[in-house]
Amino acid sequence: MTQTASAFVLGTAMWGWTINPTDCHRILDTYYERGGRWIDGATNYPINKKGSDFRKAEQILLDWINSRGVDDLKIIMKVGSVNNLGGPENNLSPSFLLLCAQEYQHLFGQQLASLMIHWDNRTNLEEIQASLDTLIVVEGVSLGLSGVRHPDIYAEALENRKVKEVWLQLKHNVIYSDYNRYAPLHDNARCIAYGINAGGLKLDAKAYSKQASLLARGGNHEQHKELVEGLIGLIDRFSAANNRPALKKMNHIGLLYALLHPGIEKVLLGVSKVEQLEDSLAWEQVLNQYDYSDWFAALGKIIVKHGKK
Ligand SMILES: NC(=O)c1ccc[n+]([C@@H]2O[C@H](COP(=O)([O-])OP(=O)(O)OC[C@H]3O[C@@H](n4cnc5c(N)ncnc54)[C@H](OP(=O)(O)O)[C@@H]3O)[C@@H](O)[C@H]2O)c1
Repeated sequence: MTQTASAFVLGTAMWGWTINPTDCHRILDTYYERGGRWIDGATNYPINKKGSDFRKAEQILLDWINSRGVDDLKIIMKVGSVNNLGGPENNLSPSFLLLCAQEYQHLFGQQLASLMIHWDNRTNLEEIQASLDTLIVVEGVSLGLSGVRHPDIYAEALENRKVKEVWLQLKHNVIYSDYNRYAPLHDNARCIAYGINAGGLKLDAKAYSKQASLLARGGNHEQHKELVEGLIGLIDRFSAANNRPALKKMNHIGLLYALLHPGIEKVLLGVSKVEQLEDSLAWEQVLNQYDYSDWFAALGKIIVKHGKK
């Protein structure tokens, strides 16, 4: 099989919550073996509202790194959270961000690729610039943003600080996409899409397991019934075309919708099993190999009809 550079980043939001440490390590073994190096973390993963699990996901990653002796990962850490309760409390003061930068440089060394500001609702330009000032001087580490309420103010702050490029994590799936909301940052941003399965939405209502990600996060299948029917209709319509593999499930649609988007550079995988990882790796190859632009265009129409945006 011909290998092309992968756009994937392995997500860790459910590690230590719906995915036990042994399975996380199995997923990591396969991901690494297949050439995956990018990993996404955050101080507050898993956000399961259980205080004793604060920073558990990064500990699972560290245990794996130490047991395998790996030294060539590219790790993104989202910082600013002070707990894993899922509320708005965070600390983006320069002193706290400096502490986070020092901590993750100590833990991950040269494998720390990016530090991202995680959730920012502020409107004060000077305060935002002070946060940026702390992170842009961290050697060998790229600046990133995730969950920014006011992209226009950030665009101004980046221009004032002469920052030309930032990683930007944004939600992008068939129910909701933040891509257009981030328009003020499009010139500077290298976009990484997350939530491509809409947090674990399935096409088949019977496909949810007891540990299903959507249900653990308080989601609800019924809420998206019409959209799901529209998506199943598209699968049926295109399945007659036998010149390329047929899409079969939500993950294939989510991957297509993100990987074919011209403004998206990387895609976060939220796999909970090795088989799901294998499925995504295989589908990235398929989408690189065959033309699905007609599928992508038809999907856009279904989303306009049934999605939120
Ligand atoms: N920047 C941010 O604010 C932010 C927010 C959210 C997430 N993230 C990052 O993005 C990563 C992914 O986010 P997400 O978990 O919301 O992603 P997602 O892709 O929307 O949802 C993941 C869920 O989709 C299902 N799934 C994934 N691959 C599948 C496959 N091949 N076949 C069938 N089902 C599949 C699984 O559900 P089941 O387990 O139920 O089977 C899985 O738990 C996170 O781990 C985190 O690193 C960032």
